[in-house]
Amino acid sequence: MTDHMRQANRRHWDAASEGWEGLRDQDQLWRVCIEEPSVAFVGDALQMIGECCGDLGGQRVCVVGSGDNYAAFALAGMGARVTSTDISTRQLQAAARRAAILGLDIEFVRCDAVGLDPLADSAYDLVCSTNGFWVWIDEPHRVFCAVSRVLKPGGHYVMYDVHPFQRPWRDQTAIEMVKPYWATGPFVQAEKGRRTYEFHWTLADIVNSLLEAGLVLRRVAESGAKDSRFWEGPTYAPGTDDSLLDWRTNPRAGLPSWLTLAAQRP
Ligand SMILES: C[S@@+](CC[C@H](N)C(=O)[O-])C[C@H]1O[C@@H](n2cnc3c(N)ncnc32)[C@H](O)[C@@H]1O
Repeated sequence: MTDHMRQANRRHWDAASEGWEGLRDQDQLWRVCIEEPSVAFVGDALQMIGECCGDLGGQRVCVVGSGDNYAAFALAGMGARVTSTDISTRQLQAAARRAAILGLDIEFVRCDAVGLDPLADSAYDLVCSTNGFWVWIDEPHRVFCAVSRVLKPGGHYVMYDVHPFQRPWRDQTAIEMVKPYWATGPFVQAEKGRRTYEFHWTLADIVNSLLEAGLVLRRVAESGAKDSRFWEGPTYAPGTDDSLLDWRTNPRAGLPSWLTLAAQRP
């Protein structure tokens, strides 16, 4: 029913991919995450992955909505056998070029996260999604059903993303609410004539969708930004203004910045 929104988002990412590739080339941090997985995983995600999976060596891991693929590179660097999936062919092509430069053997599969159709049942020990994935998803329940399907029994899903409490505010230091917490979208934007559809799911939307898909919630963390870069645009480079981490200067710093959770297929 809402496929047209996902297809519009796919066209957007195909068109925007080259620009993002150039942006990420400015600091070259994509070369670093193999050795420093903390570049790719913030919040409490690395710790949860360790708690859930132990040593990732040889384990099968799938990244959904893999985007710039820092997570896929980091997980491959940790020894996992990685499948990277994204709805955008161009995003995957850019990531495959980088994986070749880094000497990483990653499987790239184009698919929509609401079905993960090309992926086999019960194939993965771990499925991950990272920052900026959930905002593109119109039907969280279908994603969690797909994640549950491709996980081995006992396998884990670990995600971190912008905490839903950060969504209702205007992007500025002074605090100004621009929408109620419960207004989830779709938020339609037009960039260079391309429409995109974004969603601001609440904590309850995410957790209930996960539970309805039969996954068991193992752990939730709500953490503040440890680096001011959270407030300074789409960069992985260290932030430049520590005053943004103080809620007295930047009231939104008094709310959690990251939502991290771990779930398990029974
Ligand atoms: C902002 S990126 C976030 C992912 C990653 N953490 C990153 O920082 O690049 C969003 C990615 O999600 C992908 N995406 C959007 N909708 C999707 C869907 N329905 N299924 C799979 N991927 C999707 C986009 O193509 C894009 O590469």
